[in-house]
Amino acid sequence: MSVTELFDHAKTTKRVDSITIRRPDDFHVHLRDGAMLEAVLPFTSSQFARGVIMPNLVPPVTSVAMAAAYRERILSARPEGSDFQPLMTCYLTDTTAPAEIEKGFRDGVWVAAKLYPAGATTNAHYGVTDIPARAPVFERMEKIGMPVLIHGESTDPAVDIFDREAAFMEQSLLPLLKRHAGLKVVIEHVTTAETADIVRAHAARAAGTITPHHLVINRTSIFQGGLRPHLYCLPVAKREHHRLALRKAATSGLPCFFIGTDTAPHRRTAKEAECCSAGIFGGATALQTYVQVFDEEGALDRFEAFASVNGARFYGLDLNCGTIVLERRESPVLAAVAVEDNEVVVFQGGQTLPWSVGAVTR
Ligand code: NCD
Ligand code: ZN
Repeated sequence: MSVTELFDHAKTTKRVDSITIRRPDDFHVHLRDGAMLEAVLPFTSSQFARGVIMPNLVPPVTSVAMAAAYRERILSARPEGSDFQPLMTCYLTDTTAPAEIEKGFRDGVWVAAKLYPAGATTNAHYGVTDIPARAPVFERMEKIGMPVLIHGESTDPAVDIFDREAAFMEQSLLPLLKRHAGLKVVIEHVTTAETADIVRAHAARAAGTITPHHLVINRTSIFQGGLRPHLYCLPVAKREHHRLALRKAATSGLPCFFIGTDTAPHRRTAKEAECCSAGIFGGATALQTYVQVFDEEGALDRFEAFASVNGARFYGLDLNCGTIVLERRESPVLAAVAVEDNEVVVFQGGQTLPWSVGAVTR
């Protein structure tokens, strides 16, 4: 090795044992309601300063009044002393009125609208059946600078489940971007290399969230030693080369990628069932998982941008004050969280993870 190579080697092998970053945000969270909300919120609120709250309740959050009321229920469910801020979203249906969308945005009740193709995922049956027909809504959002958050999967039952994201991008997303050249779009839970490329190519007004689980599991993991219902979510995990592409995208430092955990708790009985509900509860291990991935990819210096800067900038929010410490310190993760007489299985729960969450300052 030459002297320069030796220096470079020393630089790249120098072990960082702790990083302190600006407090992060989670731009894709399912908190549910009632007992489930009470049970899962403390995990998200201890890791993140703000969360973009998904509206797929039963019934869905489709009006300004419903979003304002749900926001109050989240605020009251916060643990004592928590300053967690829920950022609400509106669930788009075939009948959403542009005026209602604009009112909620201008009044500061919601920050974005969520587009579920009808039937694409959990509680998406009130979603949009004809995306081009919703042009008046998208035109209004374009005009007021309000982002649309997209669950990007085709609902055509003839499309193979592993191809549904790709089909949606070709058939629906790219045409939408063309029709509405000024519309701000977040492609939620990106799962393929091609979708990550689409985000990069439209980075001026498009962004992509990446979940912790899609950085860790591939589609084979779901069948490792048997069928693993707790690794089933939508969009379903894809082949290994997609997982590697997602790790590249997340750790790239590009401003168009940021955290959206898609933490989606379901009761154990709904997961270990004849028809398993889609969703992984990643809320309790989100930062530990992400930071481990950045460490493995030699990109710890880029973690703060992904966790705490890129998303806020895209949404036009102030950056958080305060910091959180992430430490290379092994800690055991709880296996499940109790909810009434049931429980929710934790992603990577029951294991010892190499990174832990340390002190938070405000
Ligand atoms: C989510 C849920 O359970 O609400 N499920 C999931 O598999 N991700 C809905 C969603 O975001 O698709
Ligand atoms: Zn989701």
